[in-house]
Amino acid sequence: MAQSNRDGFTSSFGVLVATLGSAVGLGNIWKFPFLTGTNGGAGFLLVYLAATMLVGLPVMMVETMLGRTARANAVTTFEVVAPPGQGCWKGIGWMGFSAALLIMAFYSEVAGWIYSYVFKSLSGEIATVDPKAAATAFAGLVSDPVSSLVWQWVVLCVTGGIITLGVSKGIEAVARKLMPLLFVLLLVLCGRSLTLPGAMRGLSFLFEPDFSKITSGVVLTAFGLAFFKLSLGMGTMLTYGSYFQGDQNIPATTTRVMLADLSVSLLAGVAIFPAVFAFGFEPAAGPSLVFMIIPAVFTSMPGGALFMAVFFVLTAVASIGAMLSLLEVPVAILSERYGMGRKRASALTIVCIAVLGVPASLSQSLAAKFTIFGLNSFDLFDFLSSNILLPLGGILICLFVGWVYGLPELEKRLSNEGTLENRRLIRVVFFLVRYVAPLSIAIVLLNGLKLI
Ligand code: PHE
Repeated sequence: MAQSNRDGFTSSFGVLVATLGSAVGLGNIWKFPFLTGTNGGAGFLLVYLAATMLVGLPVMMVETMLGRTARANAVTTFEVVAPPGQGCWKGIGWMGFSAALLIMAFYSEVAGWIYSYVFKSLSGEIATVDPKAAATAFAGLVSDPVSSLVWQWVVLCVTGGIITLGVSKGIEAVARKLMPLLFVLLLVLCGRSLTLPGAMRGLSFLFEPDFSKITSGVVLTAFGLAFFKLSLGMGTMLTYGSYFQGDQNIPATTTRVMLADLSVSLLAGVAIFPAVFAFGFEPAAGPSLVFMIIPAVFTSMPGGALFMAVFFVLTAVASIGAMLSLLEVPVAILSERYGMGRKRASALTIVCIAVLGVPASLSQSLAAKFTIFGLNSFDLFDFLSSNILLPLGGILICLFVGWVYGLPELEKRLSNEGTLENRRLIRVVFFLVRYVAPLSIAIVLLNGLKLI
């Protein structure tokens, strides 16, 4: 049932672009810079790189492989690939379902800030290089309950509208067109930022590690970011893998996506940190960081207001690609398992997210006093999903592939039934997935949560 009537990506290039569309998003432009800033710079970046290469990439390969093998949503996939009597593995899919809703609850809020900054760029309200004025402008947005909520709802309506168009049309078309432009604008920003007086301090912050700053909490956040960045541990890549064609080279495609995604993040870092130091901002400002620095850099350029608006439009588009892929997890589960039409499944999912999103959007205004473990709802949703659910999902997927699914099956699937010459590579992937990834994530998780 799940196997038939499924829309798929129509070309191998389309697969690459759509997968990249899921990976590249606010994670690169907003989360990577702000986390690098709050976690001490280069040391964090180093751990993040290691987590991405040694854990993220192999997890991405096996996740995509499982989805393509089962050609089903994140829950059904485990029913198809797990041996008889081991239906419990489908819990991974349900965890992904919850993680998708939690992530969307705060992600759509940040996307709302981006939308509103498109208009603020043009009105001149945010055109300042002064740290105080920039902080006031941002606070004006997030501390206003009505505008926070309305922008989030606008984002959810736009995204919901696109997803009802279906996989290949909706996702591919949006993702394909505008990504290269964002890359070019980031390059322009880097050029400007690097030529500001005092820019070099930003570069050394980003690239000269201070190992004393790498605490267990920093390591957990870096691992969480690696999962979040590549959309792993929650069924997104699994669901996207289910739309891959049988002859797609999964190891090659995922490696390209990882490298491209990393370049976008690094470019964002180089665009931001030199300016942070040049203009006297605080690198550890938190989620507001890019909302202050990007306007500052554009303001110091001729024609800045217009370019700034274009930049925020492109970032909004990138965020749509990521949100479509987040929504795809619950929508595929609901429509394939409960016989709901895609439109109804999308509408239901969006309504749930809108409800869950209320405390997140009000976390700096009406609901500011409501905290758990010292975190407001926005930070709590982020922490729970990125730092707990995704790494946990990653461990379980690795344990499943490494200890239940096994090497012969993995070899068969990742080599496209022996048509690709990549046996050595697959063995390395298997080793990483069987031992290195689950062990390192488990230690990082327990240590980061202060359980050991
Ligand atoms: N990878 C996306 C980004 O960086 C976010 C995302 C996380 C998308 C998990 C899907 C699943 O913006």
